[in-house]
Amino acid sequence: MNEKPLLRVRGLTTEFATSEGAVARALEDVSFDVLPGKTVGLVGESGSGKTTTLMALMRLLPASGRITKGKVWFNDTNLLALSEHEMRDYRWKSMAIVFQGAMNALNPVMKVGDQIREAILLHDLMDRSAAEKRVRDLLEMVGIAPARRDQYPHQYSGGMRQRAMIAMALACAPDILFADEPTTALDVMIQAQILQLLKEIQKALGLAVVIVTHDLGVVAEVCDEVVVLYGGKVAEYGSVDRIYNHAQHPYTQRLLESFPDINNPSETLASIPGTPPRLTQLPPGCRFEPRCHVKINRCAEVSPPLLEVEPGHYVACILREGKEANFQ
Ligand SMILES: Nc1ncnc2c1ncn2[C@@H]1O[C@H](COP(=O)(O)OP(=O)(O)OP(=O)(O)O)[C@@H](O)[C@H]1O
Ligand SMILES: [Mg+2]
Repeated sequence: MNEKPLLRVRGLTTEFATSEGAVARALEDVSFDVLPGKTVGLVGESGSGKTTTLMALMRLLPASGRITKGKVWFNDTNLLALSEHEMRDYRWKSMAIVFQGAMNALNPVMKVGDQIREAILLHDLMDRSAAEKRVRDLLEMVGIAPARRDQYPHQYSGGMRQRAMIAMALACAPDILFADEPTTALDVMIQAQILQLLKEIQKALGLAVVIVTHDLGVVAEVCDEVVVLYGGKVAEYGSVDRIYNHAQHPYTQRLLESFPDINNPSETLASIPGTPPRLTQLPPGCRFEPRCHVKINRCAEVSPPLLEVEPGHYVACILREGKEANFQ
């Protein structure tokens, strides 16, 4: 795998100021690569930092949040070093996002086609007729009949609204699409259709995708690589094949056990006993230690470094052997 990554996330660390005046360390030292045309899955239970990762990459964290450390290289540009003005050239055109719960965020009193056209005109210099042509092309690309361009969101099913949101994200032909739980609220058959759509679009456009999900079935279906987040840190990172067939972090192993049938994953991750760490009061040792079934005494004392246990496969567990990760 010698292809140069499109996006290199290095040591990404974020904090939120909470309403109680504390600091929640939502992400710590998160690193991973996104190769052109490939799909990375960000997996982890609720609160593990999946959405925060995407929002930090887009530099769209809410005012209470900030990036305290790290670099995000898009090709040879560190996005975190850009001015807000410069960053605007990258949003939509280089990287676009389908937000968590986005399909419910369409404007209910505006025709779907008009909403997509507005998104195009806001970010791209083209006249209305060119934008209108683009609306129809985008709708077609996501499998919506152009005749439905003039309908309102309530006339669309959930799956169609999600398709429309994907069309909108593709408005300016980005190189990377971030999709935050794009299938979660949909029923199983529609989920499969949306995943199929993402795969088709990816292939047709050569798009790189980062998909956030808590569903390991989704990961198996569409991802090339997986980043498993636990309490804001990378627990394990590697190819789908290695993660599924040779998971080495006790948390990943538990996750996989809680999905006995990968083709029929219907349960959530909650089947692992215990609760995730409080991000305002992080333990000195491993964040998974209180819930770990194979821990030793030292796990409560030492924060585990991310180890490269085999080429391209990283695990943050002191029970494993490997050299400390050194991302270029
Ligand atoms: N606006 C905010 N203010 C304060 N803390 C926040 C805020 N947004 C996120 N956090 C903190 O960051 C942590 C990670 O949140 P995030 O939304 O990234 O999790 P997630 O993995 O996307 O979860 P989910 O699966 O529920 O969407 C949360 O547990 C919370 O403590
Ligand atoms: Mg989220």
